[in-house]
Amino acid sequence: MSSIVLGVSGGVAAYKAAFVLRAFTEAGHDVRVVPTPGALHFVGAATFEALSGNPVTTDVWSDVPEVAHVRIGQHADLVVVAPATADLLARAAMGRADDLLTATLLTASCPVVFVPAMHTEMWLHPATQDNVATLRRRGAVVLPPAVGRLTGPDSGPGRLPEPADIAALAMVVLKHGADSLRPDLSGRRVVISAGGTREPLDPVRYLGNRSSGKQGWALARVAAARGADVVLVAANVDLPVPFGVRVVPVGTAEELRTAMLAEAVEADVVVMSAAVADFRPEVAAATKLKKGSAGEPSAVPLVRNPDVLAELVTKRTAGQLVVGFAAETGDEDADVLTHARDKLARKGCDLLVVNDVSGGQVFGRADNAVIVLGADGSATEVPRDSKDAVAAGIWTAVAARLGDPPSR
Ligand code: CTP
Repeated sequence: MSSIVLGVSGGVAAYKAAFVLRAFTEAGHDVRVVPTPGALHFVGAATFEALSGNPVTTDVWSDVPEVAHVRIGQHADLVVVAPATADLLARAAMGRADDLLTATLLTASCPVVFVPAMHTEMWLHPATQDNVATLRRRGAVVLPPAVGRLTGPDSGPGRLPEPADIAALAMVVLKHGADSLRPDLSGRRVVISAGGTREPLDPVRYLGNRSSGKQGWALARVAAARGADVVLVAANVDLPVPFGVRVVPVGTAEELRTAMLAEAVEADVVVMSAAVADFRPEVAAATKLKKGSAGEPSAVPLVRNPDVLAELVTKRTAGQLVVGFAAETGDEDADVLTHARDKLARKGCDLLVVNDVSGGQVFGRADNAVIVLGADGSATEVPRDSKDAVAAGIWTAVAARLGDPPSR
C-alpha cells in the first residue's frame, strides 16, 4: 500500500477526481485528498472524506499541531493533481505556498503528476505553456490534456483525461518514477495498430482471434502521455478511447492494411501490435450460410492475407521507425529468441517486441512481459508488469532510436 496525495484544484472537472480517488483506493492505496478552496465549490469535502476515509482540509490553519502542510507532502509516495487548473499550475511553477495543496507540493520529494484541465485558450496561453515547461524541467509529469468537449458547447484541447487513464498512468509513475512518462515523444506522430482482425465467412460469421487490444491501447495511452500525436488503427476492440488518441476502426486485414498505409505516410513511428489474420476465406458468402442448403460448405478454402508489416517496411519513409510484434514459443528447432531474431530479419523492421507465449495463456491478461529486439542486435528485457508499464518500457526503447525531432 502506498500513500498517494490527490490534489484537486477548482475547475468543473473536479467531479472526476472522485473517480480517480476510487481507482486508487480500489488498487489498495491510502489516499489523502487535498483540495484547493476553489475545488470545494465543485465537490464537497464530505465526498472526498467518505471515499478516502481520511480527513480533508484545504488550508494550513487546520490541524496546526500536526504541521499538515509539511507532513502530508513529506510522507507521500506520489502526488497527483487532477484537475490542475491554469491558476494551480502558475502557483506551483512560482513555488507559492498559499494553500495546503501548494504547500504540499513544496514539501513533496516524491514524483508529482499534474493533470491539466482548462479552456483551450488558457491551456494554449504562453504563460501556461511556460509554467508547464518549468514544472517539467523540475522533474514533474504534466500530462497533455485530452481534446474534446469542454464545459460549454466548445471543444478543443483542455479536457481532463478520463479517470481510468489518469489512474493507470499514475500507477506507472508510482512504480517507475516520473521518468517513465517523460515528454520524449513531443512533436512525434505515432501510428499503432491494435486488436485482432476478423475475416468474414458470411454476413454473421467470421474467422478471428483472441487479441484483446489491451497492449495496443496501453501503447497509445502512454505515447499520448509522453507527448505524441497518436493514431490507433483498431481492429474490433471494444475499449474506451484513450485520451488524446484518434481511433480509426477497421474490421478485416485488408481494411487494416489500407488504414495503416494511409496513416503511416506522416508517421515518425509505426507500431504493428494488431494480430492480423494470415488467411481469410477465399469467398465471403453474400447471404447467411444455411444448414442443409445447397450452399452448405463442406470445407472453407483460405487465401493468404497481405503481410502489412512487411509492406510498411518497404514503404518506410526517411527516419521512420517500424516496430513489429511477435508471439513466439520455443520448439524442437529453436528457442523463442532464435525464432524472434529470424522473424526480425525476415520482416525487416527496426524493432520487434517479443512475447514468450510458451505454456501460458496471455490473451486478455492485465499484465505482460516482453523483450524488445533491435535490428542492431540489441535485446531489452521489459519485465512482467501492467500493460501500461510495459508500454512505457517499449517506448523508452523506441525513443532511444529516434533521430532529432522533425521541424513541423
Ligand atoms: N503481421 C502483419 N500482417 C500479417 C500478419 C502479421 O502485419 N498478415 C504483423 C503483426 O502485426 C506483427 C508481426 O507481423 O507485428 C508478426 O506477426 P506474426 O503473426 O508473428 O508473423 P507471421 O509472419 O505471421 O509469422 P508466423 O509464421 O510465425 O505466424
